[in-house]
Amino acid sequence: MSEYNFKPHTDYKEYTVEEMERRSENFYKDLKRRRTVREFSPRPVSKYVIEQCLLAAGTAPNGANKQPWHFAVVESDEIKKKLRDAAEDEEHEFYHRRATQDWLDDLEQFGTDEHKPFLEEAPYLIGIFSESFSLNDKGNKEKNYYVKESVGIATGMLITELHNAGLVTLTHTPSPMGFLNEIMNRPDNEKPFLLLVVGYPADGVQVPDIKKKGLKEISTFI
Ligand SMILES: Cc1cc2nc3c(=O)[nH]c(=O)nc-3n(C[C@H](O)[C@H](O)[C@H](O)COP(=O)(O)O)c2cc1C
Repeated sequence: MSEYNFKPHTDYKEYTVEEMERRSENFYKDLKRRRTVREFSPRPVSKYVIEQCLLAAGTAPNGANKQPWHFAVVESDEIKKKLRDAAEDEEHEFYHRRATQDWLDDLEQFGTDEHKPFLEEAPYLIGIFSESFSLNDKGNKEKNYYVKESVGIATGMLITELHNAGLVTLTHTPSPMGFLNEIMNRPDNEKPFLLLVVGYPADGVQVPDIKKKGLKEISTFI
């Protein structure tokens, strides 16, 4: 081991069992409050908070530490409008032609349709891109590993951190998402992963009354 550049993991903190139980329970209680919101307030959000949340996402575990992600943060009204127009075109196709009846039936409870006003109303849109390969300083391709898994984990951490900061998100996947590269000016080695809508909820916002599976349904201890 010593031939590699290792260092003591002094950042690790151990808690007593009681503290661990309390912390895990409290964290679960807090995460349980997170809901996807589809109506946003135009209230501005602190850019510093967004930056801290992105830094937190960037700490995610990932294949061979290649960190194969890019977060394109949209503040510009002009770009938001372009994204809304393009997303609504794709979503119109989806809801009227591409989606199967089963898919439409599953979506019914969310009341979603091809109209996406939140893409112009929310203060921040974050385009999340996965880097199928990276380009090194000499412009040569470098392979990335477990890209989808890595970007999925980083995105989950970003959503968690935004919730922790007191904001709400909508995980949006206009289908297909190729237009994100063009409008956000991202290179070909980056694939759009999803579009995260971020802000404060609109006054009096409502969310679908859905249930989460219980421990027994999602886990087995063997
Ligand atoms: C990968 C992914 C894609 C999603 N795409 C959309 C979407 O395009 N539009 C939408 O309104 N919600 C979308 N959602 C939100 C889900 O509908 C939502 O997370 C789910 O119903 C559970 O609700 P909750 O987030 O409030 O717990 C997406 C969620 C995920 C994880």
